[in-house]
Amino acid sequence: MIVLGIETSCDETAAALVTHDKRILSNIVSSQDIEHKPFGGVVPEIAARAHLVHIETILHKALREANISLDQIDGIAVAGGPGLIGGVIVGVMIAKGLAMAKNVPFVPVNHLEGHALTARLTNDVPFPYLLLLVSGGHCQFLIVEDVGVYTYLGGTLDDAIGECLDKTARLLGYGYPGGPLIERLALQGDPNAFSLPQPLKGKEGCSFSFSGLKTAARKVILDQTDPSKTFQADFCASLQKTIGDILVDRCRNALKMALEKKPTITNLVVGGGVAANQYFRARLDNCVNERAMGLVTPPVNLCTDNGAMIAWAGMERLQRGLIGSLDFAPRPRWPLEELKRENAQ
Ligand code: KG4
Ligand code: ZN
Repeated sequence: MIVLGIETSCDETAAALVTHDKRILSNIVSSQDIEHKPFGGVVPEIAARAHLVHIETILHKALREANISLDQIDGIAVAGGPGLIGGVIVGVMIAKGLAMAKNVPFVPVNHLEGHALTARLTNDVPFPYLLLLVSGGHCQFLIVEDVGVYTYLGGTLDDAIGECLDKTARLLGYGYPGGPLIERLALQGDPNAFSLPQPLKGKEGCSFSFSGLKTAARKVILDQTDPSKTFQADFCASLQKTIGDILVDRCRNALKMALEKKPTITNLVVGGGVAANQYFRARLDNCVNERAMGLVTPPVNLCTDNGAMIAWAGMERLQRGLIGSLDFAPRPRWPLEELKRENAQ
């Protein structure tokens, strides 16, 4: 079986073809970094228009690279939310049109489920597992029991890590996305140069809060009279270390909570754009080693938004008969835990 996956929920226009035996035939991602750079963040209206301009070319490229024609496709999966609604509408309408024209199943996929299941495509991870989903808009721990069956353990009460990194990079005078840039600058810096707050560290549960850290980072940057390269590197290294400390603290609690609920869990999977960060991966690896568990992180290009993750989630759904209907309405908000109820209907 071959599924086409389309992703347009944020600032990447992406399409991919994936087979039931986990081969990625093509995975084309067109980033809108240049369009959004002057604004220091993603502008929803600009994103939607850019998706509309690029989607057709990206689809053609994906088909060409895979050497597949639309007639050979068994299903069309698309990120149906959560995300910036203008972009989601572009992807969903294209997917509906293609599914109708080719008379194949239309599978709307929750974007977060795409991130959640990627490790099954790349690393064959068995259910159940603990998931840390860290992206531009999300930061949460969930138990992944099966496709569509997620138990929320805790998450951010305000900002996500990606948001904190993107806003900080912007204050330092850099464009979007900030995460990769902060990771690069941090390599040259002293992680102990600045002492920053670690909200909720040491508290019970596995909630996060990053708005205080974001504000503290802002204050240090704005108070700096000489924003030299050394300052920037030291500051980025310190910010990254602070977030790493918070992640480890919260991860210890999340592992305990998850194992109490599901003792058969043996892996922590980290997904979403922030999971591309090598420093965070190393810190989390130490954390799971304390419990003799495994850390699974998909390759960097499959952590950030892409079409393969949507195609694969669509494949898993298709294999279980969980297909959608053409009256599906794109969803700006769509918590993963709601999927359990929807599947049961
Ligand atoms: O999953 P994603 O591509 O889009 C969303 O669904 O949000 O995540 C984007 C986020 C951005 O905040 C970006 O700065 C962050 O992931 N990011 C990183 C890295 N690469 C992307 N954060 C830290 N280190 C990275 N290497
Ligand atoms: Zn994402």
